[in-house]
Amino acid sequence: MATNWTPNGWRNFEGLQMPDYPDAAKLADTEQLLSTYPPLVFAGEARSLKEDLAQVSKGNGFLLQGGDCAESFAEFHPNNIRDTFRVILQMAVVLTYASKMPIVKLGRMAGQFAKPRSAPTETQDGVEMPSYRGDIINGIEFEAGRRQPDPDRMVRAYNQAAATLNLLRAFSTGGYANLQQVHGWTHDFMSRSPWAKKFEEMADRIGEALAFMEACGINPDTVPQLKATSFYTSHEALLLPYEEALTRQDSLTGEWYDTSAHFLWIGDRTRFEGSAHVEFLRGIGNPIGMKCGPSLKPDDLLKMLDTLNPGREAGRITLISRFGHDKVENGLAPLVRAVKKEGHPVIWSCDPMHGNVIKADSGYKTRPFERILAEVRGFFAVHRAEGTFAGGIHCEMTGQNVTECTGGAVAITDAALGDRYHTHCDPRLNAAQSLELAFLLAEMLNQELSERAREAA
Ligand code: PEP
Ligand code: CO
Repeated sequence: MATNWTPNGWRNFEGLQMPDYPDAAKLADTEQLLSTYPPLVFAGEARSLKEDLAQVSKGNGFLLQGGDCAESFAEFHPNNIRDTFRVILQMAVVLTYASKMPIVKLGRMAGQFAKPRSAPTETQDGVEMPSYRGDIINGIEFEAGRRQPDPDRMVRAYNQAAATLNLLRAFSTGGYANLQQVHGWTHDFMSRSPWAKKFEEMADRIGEALAFMEACGINPDTVPQLKATSFYTSHEALLLPYEEALTRQDSLTGEWYDTSAHFLWIGDRTRFEGSAHVEFLRGIGNPIGMKCGPSLKPDDLLKMLDTLNPGREAGRITLISRFGHDKVENGLAPLVRAVKKEGHPVIWSCDPMHGNVIKADSGYKTRPFERILAEVRGFFAVHRAEGTFAGGIHCEMTGQNVTECTGGAVAITDAALGDRYHTHCDPRLNAAQSLELAFLLAEMLNQELSERAREAA
């Protein structure tokens, strides 16, 4: 357990990217109210996730983390939850088949509301207002009043997270995650998508494996694991008053857990020595992540690991690199080398999204699919060269057919971005692009594993 730590100790540190609530009394009342609400997750579940991640850190699994950049009140709908969940499952089946390893499924869902911003205010037509910081903090509408931070939004976000998690739990264990059905969706999707021809062989092989198992009597009726799955939730632990209110002492172990999600991460803008966010996350028992971008120096990373994981517990830390397609090879290698030399057990996961945002000629913020892929390739190349494991992927995606990232096999053009651009923050991969990424990742994982096997022979 962390020493000299309390759930509110972060208040004595430097807290960036958090709103100034105009009504301090209302904020305090809301925090008090939230602290009486039921936890959203149970500490034992966070420990199970940590055990799964410990396997990933040893090269015996792969982490698939995905979902919205920013969940919103407006997009809260069962179909949206269902469709994102379904695509994550489809991606997981493809990756399981290619890697022959368990895939740890972690949604950026059921709590991913608060957003760090590059500027505190936004100016439109000469009018300046506070930046939008996510629906849990203020409104996206550029109107007087709407941008004011309002503590009531925390309660609404909590309720939305609870309902989302409830549906995800029902889907995970109630039969929706049936392996044959998930493959059936992929098969059906591919038969309708001309681009998918190039992955038909892999999809056929998955189908054959399932048919073989069925012939042997292994099906969802005889083996219940085939119709249920473990699905965990995660978000950036940015809005600390909310996270503190949901932090509870586990009655079984006496340890503190942030029960707002199974896994919490520190963003690229809030990971520095003396940061309130680092102070908060150091004391919770959950598995945690930290974003690693171009400004992070190897020595600072090592110091951070000593702070966040002094006991060097495997599965505790996931380092999520987000350099950009042209910076990943040079930027990531020194970090990987330093961590390996020091012997810290970590999972290296690749976020190919946040370093690859560009402004399209049409004015939309986008991410070209080729750059996303190039970053993933660079990530694999670094781990191959350093003798470490490429342990996971972190993406912003949705099950909807949005037009937010350009490219992909169903090439979305710059001019088409306006057709269905719905994100409240960063551009997400749509369902087809997500599945395409999974197939391309599967090829890379497959190659990496055959190289590992060749070397071991
Ligand atoms: C995010 O993951 O939504 C995010 C803001 O990332 P980063 O902290 O890496 O910029
Ligand atoms: Co984002």
